[in-house]
Amino acid sequence: MDDQRGNLMIEHNDDAFQQLQSVAKEKFVEEFGIDPFWMVSAPSRVNLIGEHIDYCDGFVLPLAINRHIVIAAAPNGTSQANMVSTLFPGEPAVVMVDEDPVMGEPRWANYIRGVLDGFRLKDLWPLPGFDAVVHSNIPLGAGLSSSAAIEVALATLVEGLLGIEINPKNKALLCQRAEQKFAGVPCGIMDQFVSVFAQPDHVVLIDCRSQQAQPIPLADTSVAVIIADTKIQHELSDGSYANRRKQTEIALMILGKDSWREVSMADLEEAKGEMSEVVFQRARHVITEIERTQKAAMAIARGKMDEVGGLMRASHLSLRDDFEVSCRELDIMVEGAWHIGEAGGVLGSRMTGAGFGGSTVTLARAEQAESVMEAMSRNYKQETGIEPHIFSTKAVGGAELSDLL
Ligand code: GLA
Repeated sequence: MDDQRGNLMIEHNDDAFQQLQSVAKEKFVEEFGIDPFWMVSAPSRVNLIGEHIDYCDGFVLPLAINRHIVIAAAPNGTSQANMVSTLFPGEPAVVMVDEDPVMGEPRWANYIRGVLDGFRLKDLWPLPGFDAVVHSNIPLGAGLSSSAAIEVALATLVEGLLGIEINPKNKALLCQRAEQKFAGVPCGIMDQFVSVFAQPDHVVLIDCRSQQAQPIPLADTSVAVIIADTKIQHELSDGSYANRRKQTEIALMILGKDSWREVSMADLEEAKGEMSEVVFQRARHVITEIERTQKAAMAIARGKMDEVGGLMRASHLSLRDDFEVSCRELDIMVEGAWHIGEAGGVLGSRMTGAGFGGSTVTLARAEQAESVMEAMSRNYKQETGIEPHIFSTKAVGGAELSDLL
């Protein structure tokens, strides 16, 4: 596995998943002295297009990537969950499974507490106690949603503990609530939905109004998905994400509509005089991004990846100029890819996720992916002095639980 940050890293990690599971299993035996009963996994994601509109009733188009949280676990016959994370060595967590979960230390376990609280609210409480080891190869702080992956992995483990399967939509919503209430991020539904609903070789079109997830085959298999982590980290709980969400809510209120799906550019132009320039720009992003995402979903279904590239470019510009969630490093990474252009194998590139740092997503011709990654890396290092972490990925399936006995 090849997931340290800090080195130049161009990788193809097909074996990574197997390796991840064996490390989790070994660590479990070392910590708890028995074999685990279950192995669960949940993928992280990259969003192709549809940014900052999942909380605006919009459409989003993410795919689950070959980077996972895995949890090896077994029941322990007590009233507590004993959890160890390889990401936070020396910070084991003990959480009671018969008392109301509250936020606390270690902080990484707040995602766990949030999910457990969701089961409590569903009257699936108390839970049987369990021991667990959490392991991951998702780069932290890279905007690839490791938090949604841990929430969905834990919810999947609890399903195993209880011997039930909850409705997948409710499971994703339970995990979204955990993020909102226990991590303090007023997020939309994208990250948790894709971690639950993803299918191999498909992107997931999520209609965030009806909360329906529709898999769309990546018909053109000659296209590689490249993720480039700028190594600039941003804490979403610091308020800038919440601030953008608030501004969209103000805009919708001024527009006097119930949903962004009922708002046209003409409506916005008409109401322009009633809102500040900033709120107008935020609204313009929402309206245009919803339209671009619908177009991109249709283009992908028809295998027209070049059309998707143009829409990704327009999306980045809108996020940079209207929604103002990009940053210098994201712009440098994306412009580096645009500069390589179609002749060099690049179909499209944009920032992905919440922004203010994190990663970009680039679609490239598979046979040229290696040289695209090298050129992007060289350019970024030259311009910023920072060694990026760049890797190509494939669309994988959603969370899974296996019985190991
Ligand atoms: C974060 C949130 C998502 C979504 C994106 C931006 O990943 O968790 O709900 O809003 O930012 O598109």
